[in-house]
Amino acid sequence: YAVYRRVRAQGALVPTRLGRWMTATHRVCDAVLRDRRFGVRSAELVAGSEADEFDMSMLDRDPPDHTRLRRLAQPSFGPRRMAAYRPRIERTVDELLTRAGAEFDVVSALAAPLPIAVITDLLGVPDADAERFARYGVVIGGALDGISSLRHAARLRAAAAELRVLFEELFELRRHTPADDVISRIVAARGDRIGPQEMVPLCNLLLVAGFETTVNLVGNAVNALLDHPRQWAELCADPHGLAGPAIEETLRWDPPVQRTARCALEDVELAGRTVRAGDFVVTLLGGANRDPEVFADPDRFDIHRTPGADHLAFSSGIHYCVGQPLARLEATVALRMLAERMPGLRRAGPMRRRIGGLLRGPIRLPVRATAT
Ligand code: HEM
Repeated sequence: YAVYRRVRAQGALVPTRLGRWMTATHRVCDAVLRDRRFGVRSAELVAGSEADEFDMSMLDRDPPDHTRLRRLAQPSFGPRRMAAYRPRIERTVDELLTRAGAEFDVVSALAAPLPIAVITDLLGVPDADAERFARYGVVIGGALDGISSLRHAARLRAAAAELRVLFEELFELRRHTPADDVISRIVAARGDRIGPQEMVPLCNLLLVAGFETTVNLVGNAVNALLDHPRQWAELCADPHGLAGPAIEETLRWDPPVQRTARCALEDVELAGRTVRAGDFVVTLLGGANRDPEVFADPDRFDIHRTPGADHLAFSSGIHYCVGQPLARLEATVALRMLAERMPGLRRAGPMRRRIGGLLRGPIRLPVRATAT
């Protein structure tokens, strides 16, 4: 976050090297993400990840393909489906916390298994295959983080091939016996609203986007609250009222996705500069969320913050996270139930963070549920 502050001090839009810009101000990030003169066109690829091994479906597409794929995915995250999902999420969190015992790692006991259970269920993956989906999701999530090595590229290709086989088996199954899940809806739209080559990438995106990010959100929220014991105590006194605001403040203060990027489709005048067609602008979402022009005392973590402008943790514009209702629901339920059941939560060892600058969150967060 100190780096973002330095970027912001250099100006609203900072040239980095030929054809590359970056911004850590809320106004310019938001403007770029909403401006139709910017597109994605594998922008993240150029921002240093290995996503070229991997077609990221609508996230890698501009309209009209983007619009078509997005319309297919969006209804799966509507309010009615989310409401129907809540009991299932509560049951999963309850089971995970019961199994966790008195001393556990928040990431491996709660934050990681929760979204994988939820997203595989939502997609319609049979329980028996869920563990394999999780393993491949981790490999592909690592690739998104730009940890590039030849060995990793080979693992990524292998994981992508395994996933393709699993998904194609599921497509076959759901063609004959449709169910009330995302895969069945995609299969039903095949040939009409989605091409046969587009189906696996869309499923991959839903799996990975919903998995690696939500892990970080739950991890970052617990981590922040362990560092702010007074606010943890307040949350424990009113879990139903404060879990949602605490998740919202975590999204602002320590967002799981730190940046994205866009490519100018034509010359654009922006913040007193000329961004040429083909130039990339890296939008530092984690920096925008600490912009003092928009958030008072931005470096302070405060679950009582009255929402002013929107944070950019879920991006903005046409690619605004399609899974955000699910992410918010999962994380809020997890935090609420943790506060209800373990108000005496303490650290039981040092936290270890992910490496890589795109995704941010703990990979290990040991805690002890001491009696109060
Ligand atoms: C897009 C963040 C959870 C599915 C995005 C983007 C961000 C983001 C920043 C836009 C990237 C860009 O503008 O270039 C997050 C965070 C999450 C989360 C922080 C959790 C805390 C989820 C979940 C799902 C999901 C649970 C689905 C199960 C997607 C999809 C897109 C997307 C499909 C692409 C949307 C489009 O291109 O129109 N997410 N996400 N995300 N997210 Fe999420």
